[in-house]
Amino acid sequence: MAASFAYSHLFAEGLPAPAPRWTGFPKYNFIGGHNDPEHVPAADLAAAAEAVLRRDGADLALYNPHGPQGFRATREYVVNKVAGRGITCTPEEVLITSGSGQGLDLVNRVLLNRGDTVVLEEFTYGGALTKLQRLGVNVVGAPLDDDGLRIDALGRILDDLKQKATVPKFIYTIPTVQNPTGSILPVDRREALLALAKKHGVVIFEDECYADLTWNPDAPAAIYSMDPSRVIHVGSFSKTLSPALRLGYVVSDWTVMSRLVGLKREIDSGTGALEQMVVAEYFSRSFTEHVGELTGVLREKLDTMVEALEREFGTTVEKMWRPKGGIFLWIKLPDRVDVTKLVAPAAKEGLVFNPGPEWSCNPAQTKSHMRLCFALPSKDVIRNGIATLARVCYEETGIPEQSANIRRGA
Ligand SMILES: Cc1ncc(COP(=O)(O)O)c(C=O)c1O
Repeated sequence: MAASFAYSHLFAEGLPAPAPRWTGFPKYNFIGGHNDPEHVPAADLAAAAEAVLRRDGADLALYNPHGPQGFRATREYVVNKVAGRGITCTPEEVLITSGSGQGLDLVNRVLLNRGDTVVLEEFTYGGALTKLQRLGVNVVGAPLDDDGLRIDALGRILDDLKQKATVPKFIYTIPTVQNPTGSILPVDRREALLALAKKHGVVIFEDECYADLTWNPDAPAAIYSMDPSRVIHVGSFSKTLSPALRLGYVVSDWTVMSRLVGLKREIDSGTGALEQMVVAEYFSRSFTEHVGELTGVLREKLDTMVEALEREFGTTVEKMWRPKGGIFLWIKLPDRVDVTKLVAPAAKEGLVFNPGPEWSCNPAQTKSHMRLCFALPSKDVIRNGIATLARVCYEETGIPEQSANIRRGA
């Protein structure tokens, strides 16, 4: 074996913890935002790749062939796509990013200084929390109910902060299929949220990563469409097509956009052009068909997971947030179940889930919550995985007592 690097004592300060070596995916993989492998339209993507390469392949000779905001056809496609969310914008107001995660990083860097305060939904995207923590930003959680952000409570939080002479920089919200609860914010709350943000001089940072994956087509228009001067909007192709392609986008007015582009140029030399070309080519023709089919499959998998939880956990699941779309189920077990203590024994059984504290602004109060992704596993894997989870939970905590799995003595 080669000698290990002799200069690790020279590593910079403040690096994240070293990554473990990757050992492959577990059998029962309920974490992250993976997609359904059987619904990657591989043949159509191959045809799209061939078509764009034959037509526009010479563009690959250039860095950022259509400028630093991304491929023209892809930005034009995003303009059409977000029109479906009520947004009127031009390709100059669209930035293609390497995943919407990069969009989050860029917006954070444009707006935040160490010590700033931001308001997030009490349960939120763990990646957003981690990014903010690394930036040394104070995070305040605003309560949610089955319809998303509680505007009354948010109003009180903003008033309290004002009393302490603190104006948060932004309110980060996932209004359309919230991660992890799956709620959709009704239109009157969107209006009230905007009014509150205006009153307090706070930006709304709207993340619409899952907005295309709703069970019903009646979600209210994006908040950005209601006032582009007060909102920054991000979206992703990870959830509708493929997280491995690493494509997302930001929509903002030029004042913000010019800063985002300035920063992105410092960070990379552009997002991969081939992915952008293929996605624009494929989705320009097949978005509605593909997303319609994917959403149907996701809904069936959700039903499978709900049935499995009811069968294996019975009434032990105290609360199940029934999502209105997307790929996650957020549940709460009784207070005496600390899900963080289930992580290691579950991993031994080849099962992983997202523990609630990592998806919460108040980790200590979310020890009995967990997030389960149902998009990647097959229905059989979902059934067997939930049975395994119930068994592990029973062995560690004594509940659920009446699981079908335990009766079988599996
Ligand atoms: C709410 C939300 N925003 C952003 C992201 C980042 O996704 P990506 O970088 O793949 O677009 C995720 C990923 O799970 C997410 O759940």
